[in-house]
Amino acid sequence: MKKKNRSVPPLEEEGGEALSFEELALLRKEGAQHREEEAPAPYDTSDRAHLRRYMKRNPLLAGAVIVILTALVALLIFGVVMLINYLVNRPNTADFTFTLGEEKPYTVPYEDSVRDGVLYVDLRSLASFSDLTVSGSSARMQFTAHGNTYLRFEQKSEVAVINGDRVEMRVKEYRGEKTVPAKAYLTDTTCWVPYEFLVQTISEGLLFRLDSEKNTITVKRVYNVYNGDLENKEAADILFSSSSLTPLPSLTEQPEYEYSYAIDVSAYLDSITSEYLLLANKQNPLGATFSPTVVDLTCATDGERQRLQVDAANALSAMMLEMKQAGVDDIYVTSSYRSYSYQENLYNKYVSDHMTQDGMSREEAEAAASAYSARPGESEHQTGLCLDFTTDSIGGAVAEVFEDTEAFEWLSQNAYKFGFILRYPKDKVAITQYDYEPWHYRFVGREAATEIYFGSLCLEEYLSGTT
Ligand code: DAL
Ligand code: ZN
Repeated sequence: MKKKNRSVPPLEEEGGEALSFEELALLRKEGAQHREEEAPAPYDTSDRAHLRRYMKRNPLLAGAVIVILTALVALLIFGVVMLINYLVNRPNTADFTFTLGEEKPYTVPYEDSVRDGVLYVDLRSLASFSDLTVSGSSARMQFTAHGNTYLRFEQKSEVAVINGDRVEMRVKEYRGEKTVPAKAYLTDTTCWVPYEFLVQTISEGLLFRLDSEKNTITVKRVYNVYNGDLENKEAADILFSSSSLTPLPSLTEQPEYEYSYAIDVSAYLDSITSEYLLLANKQNPLGATFSPTVVDLTCATDGERQRLQVDAANALSAMMLEMKQAGVDDIYVTSSYRSYSYQENLYNKYVSDHMTQDGMSREEAEAAASAYSARPGESEHQTGLCLDFTTDSIGGAVAEVFEDTEAFEWLSQNAYKFGFILRYPKDKVAITQYDYEPWHYRFVGREAATEIYFGSLCLEEYLSGTT
């Protein structure tokens, strides 16, 4: 049987030579390849291929996916850059290290040091290192330097007082550029004040160095050296100065402190506005010989002869008339000028009463009496500038019950307008060193009385730095 081969080309061409075995094999291979290329590709069923085909069919969705993916990558890069930036520039919130001269450094918590974005220091903790005298407590604190310049701060007030000038505390934020108002923060044992303000007001005597990256503050005293002899040096006095700051108007220059009176005070005004700042207390005795010129009082008294220096007497007359006009007429003067010898008798009587009635030793009796009575030579009554009030409603008592009278209520709101101050306030016992006396008023003159009244001061605080 004849076998036909249709797919194989003739092995011989006319006039040609027969193909070799290798050539034939090559031809076969090419033919096979040719057939393979022409054949349709097998259908890819992988997930990726499905997705590719799906995306080809939905070009809008594909675009959106690309945009979202690009945004996510950009966000990621941005986040990483921000994180690196934060880690590199992260502010140092470590506690502060304070070094005072040669003393051992101590730390202060960051939260105490940076408040409302402003750097603070506790001036109270620098006081003994700086030889500053501290008076006052959490309501108001004053720091007096040897040269009698002073700085005074009030609880949560943006206004400080430098040697009588009221100035606003405005400082730059810590590690910032913005200038902001800053308050003082006081407790009975601390006085936190803006660092920048403090540095600005100390014009001599202390040097401050702040490292705001490491949170360290170094304070050094300035020394006076004599004749180049470094052994023979002494710490220079600290000088507080307001010269780099603009003072606010004084309290009495401000419109809200314009005085209005129901009576015509013109005849008394010269006396009311005269200033009497003499300080008589345990640290500042008047001595046995101090004896002011005094005049008899013409206003209501307890029937005894009552006397004051003339301006105090005139100011008192005006005040009593104003009080009467306001309907307060149950009030009279029960003690005023007292001579040295009068006070001597009074004090000795208190001491002997404690000894006989309370069985105290002399030492105990003197300590007890000294809490409420001045020793001879130390009494403010000897100045002729103060007086004790009482009323019929409390039976003429000189006691704390005076606080409950209508007269006390009126005096509490108006006495400053006539130049009188409550001399021994309840919250100043530690400073005045006398018990609270709601009945004892002292004439100082209207301007000082206004500042003392609105500043909630006692005379010692007001006068520190000026006496
Ligand atoms: N009672 C006041 C303190 C005096 O004796 O002067
Ligand atoms: Zn008195």
